[in-house]
Amino acid sequence: MIKKIGVLTSGGDAPGMNAAIRAVVRAGISNDLEVYGIHDGYRGLYEGKIERLYRKSVSETINRGGTFLGTERLPEFKYREVREVGIENLHKHGIDALVCIGGDGTYRGALALTEMGISCIGIPGTIDNDVAGTDYTIGFDTALNTIVDAVDKLRDTSSSHRRCSLIEVMGRNCGALAINAGIAVGAELVITSETGYNEEEIIESICEAAKAKRHCIVIIAEKVTNVSELAKTITSRTPFQARASILGHIQRGGCPTPRDRVLASCMGVKAVEELLKGNGGVCICEVNNSLKAIKFEEALTMKKDQVTEKMKSFKELW
Ligand code: F6P
Repeated sequence: MIKKIGVLTSGGDAPGMNAAIRAVVRAGISNDLEVYGIHDGYRGLYEGKIERLYRKSVSETINRGGTFLGTERLPEFKYREVREVGIENLHKHGIDALVCIGGDGTYRGALALTEMGISCIGIPGTIDNDVAGTDYTIGFDTALNTIVDAVDKLRDTSSSHRRCSLIEVMGRNCGALAINAGIAVGAELVITSETGYNEEEIIESICEAAKAKRHCIVIIAEKVTNVSELAKTITSRTPFQARASILGHIQRGGCPTPRDRVLASCMGVKAVEELLKGNGGVCICEVNNSLKAIKFEEALTMKKDQVTEKMKSFKELW
């Protein structure tokens, strides 16, 4: 019987992580568990930064962006000796199970800990929506809202000046934020690693847009190209002057949307339920609006292509 559980956030932060921690803490306490917060992700586990959390510890956190526990990326966690130190620290507090909130990297760490005897449950927390097995990750909806709000503003000034706005959005290697933002703002073009990058086609589409519109909104996923260089090319080869905006880390912050708070809260409760059932080595997924748990191995090997299908709708709408 599990008596003491830990909770940590790892990898890039995402709005709604606090709501997920709060849910784990309160659902745990409601089920007579002691709950411990591990600060700064797997690094904090290694360094023994562990503190007991109470109902009150998570008061007034549901509406706050970021993660009050702190987060980090710790590539060294792939080494067994590093994980052994972390496990020793858990044993010092009598903690026998962990809820790990984050993306793929977090899941890999959680799977490795499970294989070493610590039951772990994963909760998908990343703005990228790139965790397979779940329709949505915590933070994606808030980041998408942030992007849409920024692009609506950029469209005003682009239209006034008859310009092309190139907007680079985050997503690591996944175009989910880009394609969804593109549809939501009525962009003229969306470029992601899934769509591929063809400069001649881009120039052609922008010249086409210039025949009908005073502005041209191009959403580009990060890592696809250098947007400042592309802006220069567009200015020299199309009727539009172009300006590049890199939205950057603003996409990671801010007050989580109700959608993210609800998703995070329900996933946190489900994670505790799974631990109480004696399950470990699984991650929580939202599929068709209901929650389920699948094995880490499954989530880590499954493919998730959200761009190809949505590109069809995007092209029809242009
Ligand atoms: O995974 C979240 C994310 O924001 C990605 O979209 C982005 O590529 C990366 O993290 C940025 O990482 P960092 O905060 O370390 O610059």
